[in-house]
Amino acid sequence: MRLVIERYNCVGHARCAAVAPDLFELDREGYIAVDHVDVPAGQEALARRAARACPERVISVVE
Ligand code: F3S
Repeated sequence: MRLVIERYNCVGHARCAAVAPDLFELDREGYIAVDHVDVPAGQEALARRAARACPERVISVVE
């Protein structure tokens, strides 16, 4: 599973990283620092929860 992130629409809520700190890297200003995440096996549910946690809906799940 992979997460695809529209970085240009991130406004820095940081909820993604609060839910799954090991999956999401934030930059110094608190914006998401990656445009995709390859989700390790076993962390799919956590990744989905983190994607749903973003109020801006910039994180998409690609199966
Ligand atoms: Fe950005 Fe959404 Fe995370 S606005 S920092 S991708 S919760």
